Parts: sequence; C-alpha cells; structure tokens
Amino acid sequence: MQELVIRGGRPLQGTVDASGAKNAALPVLAASLLTQEPTVLHRVPRLTDVETMTATLRALGLELEWTGPADLRIAPTGTGGTVAPRELVRRMRASVCLLGPLLATRGAATMPLPGGCVIGHRPIDLHLKGLRALGADIREDEHQVYARTDGLKGARIDMCGPRGSTVLGTANVLMAAVLAEGETVIEGAAREPEVQDLADYLVACGAQISGIGTRTLRVAGRSRLHGVDYHLIPDRIEAGTFLCAAAITGGDVSVKNLRPEHMEATLKVLQEAGVRISDTGGTLRARAERPLQPTRLATAPYPGLPTDMQPQLTAMLCVANGISEVQENVYPERFTHMPALQRMGARVECDSSRARIYGVSALHGARVIATDLRAGAALVLAGLAAEGETCIKGLNQIERGYQTPALKLRALGADVQRREADWCERRGRRPA
Ligand code: EPZ
Repeated sequence: MQELVIRGGRPLQGTVDASGAKNAALPVLAASLLTQEPTVLHRVPRLTDVETMTATLRALGLELEWTGPADLRIAPTGTGGTVAPRELVRRMRASVCLLGPLLATRGAATMPLPGGCVIGHRPIDLHLKGLRALGADIREDEHQVYARTDGLKGARIDMCGPRGSTVLGTANVLMAAVLAEGETVIEGAAREPEVQDLADYLVACGAQISGIGTRTLRVAGRSRLHGVDYHLIPDRIEAGTFLCAAAITGGDVSVKNLRPEHMEATLKVLQEAGVRISDTGGTLRARAERPLQPTRLATAPYPGLPTDMQPQLTAMLCVANGISEVQENVYPERFTHMPALQRMGARVECDSSRARIYGVSALHGARVIATDLRAGAALVLAGLAAEGETCIKGLNQIERGYQTPALKLRALGADVQRREADWCERRGRRPA
C-alpha cells in the first residue's frame, strides 16, 4: 500500500492551479451516454474516480480517448449493454448516476447497490423515487437494482429528503428527465455548483432546462441530444483544501482559475479563523499567521458550508488558539478523521454530529491511515503543520479526489514524498 511521507513545519508558499471538479466530472461523464454524437470535455481531472467512470463507460459501449492532459473525447458506438460491471461500480458510489442515462437511452439498467461508506449511511431511496415517478419499473434485492422502462414520461417530483436535497439524486433524475416525454418539474433540487454544471452541460447538448441554480428545475423533454465541446468548472473542494494548507502552516498560497462565488461559505470560515483572503480575477490568495483564531462551523447543502470541507477545516482548527465547534449536518458520522488527528496531538471531543476542538500550539507527526478521501486530506493538512514526520497510509483514498497531491504540495515548498508503506498496524494498537 502506498503512503505519503510528510515532514511538517514549513509554511507553504506559492501558486497552484485548481483541477476540474471531480463531482462535476462524474455526472457529466455519465450524461455523455445521453448524446447521439461525440462530446469533448475539457478540464477533466485525472483521478482514480474519473478512471473508474471512464472504464465503466467503455464497458457500456462508449469510446473514450484522452486528447490532452485534461481533455477527453467520448463517442457513442451505437452498441452497449445495460449492466454496469460490478467490480467497477462497487468502487465508487457515484456510479449510481448511470441509472438515469441508461434508462433514458436504453430502457433498462442493472446496477449493484453502491458500496458502504465510512462517512455514514448513504441510501439511494430518493434516486429510485424520482426515477419511478418518471415511469421506471425498479426492483431491488440485497445486491442489485434492476430498472426498466417502456419510455420515460415527465412528472412533478419532490427530491427533498430528511437531510435536505441530494446531489447525485438530482443529477440522476435530471439526466433521465431530459429525454422523457413531456415536462418534468424537480422540486427540492440540489443547487451545488456541480449540479448546475451538469445542467449547463445538458443545455449545451440541446436539453431544455430552466431554474438552474434554484430549488426547482423545469425540464421540457427532447427526443435527442447532440454532442458538445464543454469545459468543466474548477474543483472548489480541492481549492479549499489548498487554502486550508496555507492557513494551517501559516503560509501564503494562491490557487488559480477558480470560481470564487462557489466558495463563499468556505472563505467565510477561513476569514473567521484569521486567514487573509484576496480575490484577483479568479485567483484566490490565502495568507495566515499562526496561531489561527477559533470559530464555529456547521455544514449544510449549497450555498451552505460543504460537508466535503469539514474534515479539512477541522484539521485546521486543531491548531487554533482556543475552542472551536463543528456541527456536521449532512453526514452526522463524518468524524472518521478524529482518531488520527488525536494520535497527532489534537484535542477533540466528538458527541454524535458535534465536535469540540481544543486548539493546541503544535501537532506532532505519527503513522496514520486515511479512511476516506476527505479524511485523508485532513491528515495531510495536519502532517504539513506537525513537527516531525507523518506517514499517511491509504494514498489511494486521497488520489480518488486529488490529482497528484504530492506534486502540487511540493510545488508549494512542502516536504512530501510517496513511497511503498513499510509498516503495518501494530497488534492491539491499530493506528487510527
Ligand atoms: C455528493 O454525494 C458528493 N459526491 C459527496 O462528495 C458530497 O459529500 C455529497 O454530495 C453532499 O454534498 C459526488 O458528487 C460524487 P447526497 P451524494 O445524495 O450525492 C441523503 C466527496 O468527498 N440521501 O447529496 O451521494 C444522504 O444520506 C464526496 O467528494 C438520502 O437520504 O450525496 C445524505 O445524508 C463524499 N437518500 C444527504 O442525503 C438518497 O437517495 C446528502 O447526500 C440520497 C441521499
């Protein structure tokens, strides 16, 4: 298993370029099943999740070719089945958003239920409710979803669940609706920039969607969509993670080619912690002096603070000069990063979906394991600030959502290497 080895304590300095948004790329890739002509996507991040999705689309009969470092050409071949390959789908929950496009174009889809997730319970009941409302007949057993339809028909659908809107659920139903007969109204739609990017891609392909960016999407179904040349939005979570790296190391980091309007809630928390943020034409610069100030944060659907930034901001607040409070409202169990942070000297107390962080003057290096993508990012940030060496096993988790993390961090002056891990969990004391 590969690990990142970080020798911390250096303030990060310099400029990085944000990659395209992972959580826009994945649904837009699935949506490429909907067009009868080739699509060319630009600013596609080279991530393992993207490789999983491209492999799945190839298995479903599409031809995909990288025409540049971040440029991908996708072409239908007129052939392809309706069964998503289990070994690929089980790797990534976002595969679930293939259901809508397959139903809309091929009239059927068989999909393994998405794998378990360490960040908490992640049902797909709202996805299935929305697709059934459009006329899909969907059966489930303990392993798979079997969906079919004789033709999707527009409907009025409320996609809001007990924890608010669903990002991929909105994407799934939207992708089915654009080729359904008649009008669909999606109420309680997710407004995340990544959902807006998917809607913008579909409109560029000829779909008729209004209300983009609001809680209500109106779709007039079309009979076919054409190909398009499309640029994905930048990754606001990757960018926020790099700004946190400046904060936690007391450095000065700029991230280029961003959409700052997508990051307002994150920037507000950083500024409350004492980070100076400047925005010059899509480049965000974060300058910080240690110690940071404590603050309170609560995650929420967009435009609220993204849950995908909570682990990173939590790590940052571990070295603030006082007590901070974290309320996780989207995934109440999303504190898997806390035990590892404690091993590094952080003082945190968790109580169901709340955490209290007692800031310390310094963290120290340790051997830790990344349990998931954003928890891994939090441990990287802590390692950058810690005194001594931190070894983070589970680099594969981090590289699901961060393109060449070691390279980008070294460009900012960090002492980060990747290597084969030569340690295993000591019996009895499992590294966090
Ligand atoms: C997307 O996941 C993101 N993934 C997640 O990012 C992100 O954390 C999440 O949205 C919330 O912003 C991608 O876009 C690929 P949800 P998604 O459906 O769509 C409940 C990362 O690190 N829910 O918006 O699966 C659910 O349990 C990943 O990049 C239902 O109850 O999340 C949760 O509490 C992690 N029924 C809430 O809604 C459903 O059918 C939000 O989940 C679906 C969801």
